[in-house]
Amino acid sequence: MLNSKIINWYEFNKRDLPWRNTSDPYKIWISEIMLQQTQVVTVVDYYLRFINSFPSISALASANEQEVLNHWQGLGYYSRARNLHSAAKSIKDNYKGVFPDSFDEIIKLKGIGVYTASAISAFAFHLPYAAVDGNVYRVLSRLFGVSESTSSPKGKKEFQALADELMADAPPHIYNQAIIEFGALQCTAKNPDCEVCPLQAQCFAYINKQQDVLPAKKKK
Ligand code: ADE
Ligand code: SF4
Repeated sequence: MLNSKIINWYEFNKRDLPWRNTSDPYKIWISEIMLQQTQVVTVVDYYLRFINSFPSISALASANEQEVLNHWQGLGYYSRARNLHSAAKSIKDNYKGVFPDSFDEIIKLKGIGVYTASAISAFAFHLPYAAVDGNVYRVLSRLFGVSESTSSPKGKKEFQALADELMADAPPHIYNQAIIEFGALQCTAKNPDCEVCPLQAQCFAYINKQQDVLPAKKKK
C-alpha cells in the first residue's frame, strides 16, 4: 500500500515539531494558521511564544487585540491573528470555550477553510479528513500524474478525491502529518531526490521523468 510506505518513511524521517506532540485542537489550530503562509523553521518560535502567552482558548479570547498582534509581529498576514482572536471569542461565546469537534462546526470559524478544518479534524479528533495543502498537492500530482491545477473547482475536487483515496483507512492523524512531511522533505518542489524515494517504482512522475513538469504551474 502506498499510504503505508509514506507512513513508514515518515516514522524514519520526521522532524520533531512541537505541534506534533499534542492533540489539543487549540494548539493544532494555532500551528496550522501560522503554517499557512510561514515556513516551519520560523513558525516554531512564534508558536511556542504564542502558546506560552495564550495557553488556552479562554486566555486568547480574553487577551486584548494589540497583545495578540504583538505576538504576530514579523509573521505578516495580520488578518490571521485578528481572525484567531475573533474565533476564540466566538468559541467562548458559542461553545462554552470548548473547541468544536466536528468538521462542519470547525469550518464555520473565522479564518478556517477546507484545508485547516480537515487538518484540525484529523490531528485533534482523528476524523477521516485528508488535508490537501501545497505540499500534498505536489506529491499527489507527481505520484498519480495529474496535471490539473488546484485553482479550479474541478481540480480541487480531483485532488481531494485522490487524497481521500490514498488515505483510505490509515489513521488520519498519522497519514496527514506523513504526507505533509513527505512533501516538505522528500518530494520537494525543486530537485526531489527520487533516487532515495520509497515510492519511485509507483510514481508516475519518476517513471515518466516528469518531476520538473508536475505539478502544473499555476496560470498567471
Ligand atoms: N504545514 C502545514 N501543516 C503542517 C504540519 N502539521 N507540520 C508541518 N508542516 C505543516
Ligand atoms: Fe516525489 Fe520523486 Fe518520490 Fe515521485 S519518486 S514521489 S517525484 S520524490
